[in-house]
Amino acid sequence: METARECADVFPSAVDRITIYKEPEMSTTTASATTLAQQLHRDPRLAEAKRLILAAVADHQRALHGVQPPRPELTGEYQQLLHEFGQLRGGALYFPYLSSGLGNGPWVELADGSVKLDMITGIGVHGFGHSHPALIEAGIDAAVSDTVMQGNLQQDTASVRFTRRLVDAACASGAGLTHCFLSTSGAMANENALKIAFQRNAPANRVLAFEHCFAGRTLVLSQVTDKAAYRQGLPDTIAVDYLPFFDADDPAGSINRTVRVFREHLYRHPGKYACLWMELVQGEGGYNVGDREFFLALCRLAREHHIAVIADEVQSFGRTTRLFAFQHFGLDAFIDIVTLGKISQVCATLFNEDYKPRPGLVSQTFTGSTWSILAGDVIVRTLLAEGYYGPHGRIAQLHQRFAGNLERLAQRFPQAISGPFGIGGMVAFTPFDGSADKAKMLCLRLYEAGLMSFIAGADPTRLRFLMPLGCVRDEHIDAATRIIENVLTEIDEEI
Ligand SMILES: Cc1ncc(COP(=O)(O)O)c(C=O)c1O
Repeated sequence: METARECADVFPSAVDRITIYKEPEMSTTTASATTLAQQLHRDPRLAEAKRLILAAVADHQRALHGVQPPRPELTGEYQQLLHEFGQLRGGALYFPYLSSGLGNGPWVELADGSVKLDMITGIGVHGFGHSHPALIEAGIDAAVSDTVMQGNLQQDTASVRFTRRLVDAACASGAGLTHCFLSTSGAMANENALKIAFQRNAPANRVLAFEHCFAGRTLVLSQVTDKAAYRQGLPDTIAVDYLPFFDADDPAGSINRTVRVFREHLYRHPGKYACLWMELVQGEGGYNVGDREFFLALCRLAREHHIAVIADEVQSFGRTTRLFAFQHFGLDAFIDIVTLGKISQVCATLFNEDYKPRPGLVSQTFTGSTWSILAGDVIVRTLLAEGYYGPHGRIAQLHQRFAGNLERLAQRFPQAISGPFGIGGMVAFTPFDGSADKAKMLCLRLYEAGLMSFIAGADPTRLRFLMPLGCVRDEHIDAATRIIENVLTEIDEEI
């Protein structure tokens, strides 16, 4: 178990780092030409309230610095809540997990008083961990905003600021993604991307996507997602043809094979493809990482045939050596549309001038809550400003630490661990024989031991980790590794 000295100060100087709400730079804004809202955000009472709230949170979260078992006096009610929730939502939760509402970076308290080390973070959503002071501060700013939600007739300047930041970042190395539409889920961002591509390239009505991709669960996206179980009983909506994904064991052969299949589809359905749908790092598919030459060959072919190139970065956004995975792979010149989500809190569809939709195609009552938009902006700003990116940036270092630990474990437990796989803030290994049953068994055993992970892929099924990049440190990764080691030792002894 971690000592207090090692892990208590996940957010050491939070209370000293309070920033005053930053208004968007407006050329006409001078000291005398401020809105009442701007004056409210500069009110010293608001700064003092923030200081008090953050100090209170810090005092309470400090106690969360290591795995703890459930508290016996809370377990009865907790079990009842879990049971009731399972009934209400029409199915049990994957993990018996209900957060108490307080955490300390990668440590999270559950409503039964137990403490877990969260290395899956809601599948990448809590990329800055639990109870992060900068995000709480964004929440306070949102709480004094006039509306809870933003959307079609109700936008505020925070949406402008975040949209501008995403566009600037997307265009930083030559892409022409000068437009950005926010939305509340990855699926909605992807629906918007598809609609934009279909409208621009009508009457083309087919999609090319990679085998084992995951694009979301709407009626249309469950057709793109290459998993039959997720569309059981659903009507066919759009026509999708699949391309083999990159095979790292045979790079040149893999490019040749996929280009050949691409050409065969083009031959069979000339002029019918509206878009090439690319999940550059496959998340749900098992943390399969693509390759620049592979993607370039496909992008060139798509361009030749006037097919939109779409990158689905809902899971990989923020987690490679660049903010956008298409930048990591150097595809800036080819991407027409990109979608993002999860760590960004608000999802988005960015597109170039050529793919600008006609009025009416894309609109939503909700594009995001004010808090999620402010929090997304803090996260993206921090990721870009504080050394996370580059081949030797913080994310690369964190990956190296985790992957190195797993390599050492694989030497000790060769039957139990192969890999590691993944890239940057996405780490995975194949447990045992890669069967879904064994992967799920290990995932649940790790959960019981205090470490949260999740499965991904099929044949093999892997165990994946989405670290909370904005707060995780080497000692947390080492703590996670020790839990894996202990559980594998127990399993060894049981056999
Ligand atoms: C690559 C990818 N696309 C789309 C989605 C769908 O996002 P959401 O669950 O927010 O609708 C996901 C979610 O896991 C994803 O990983």
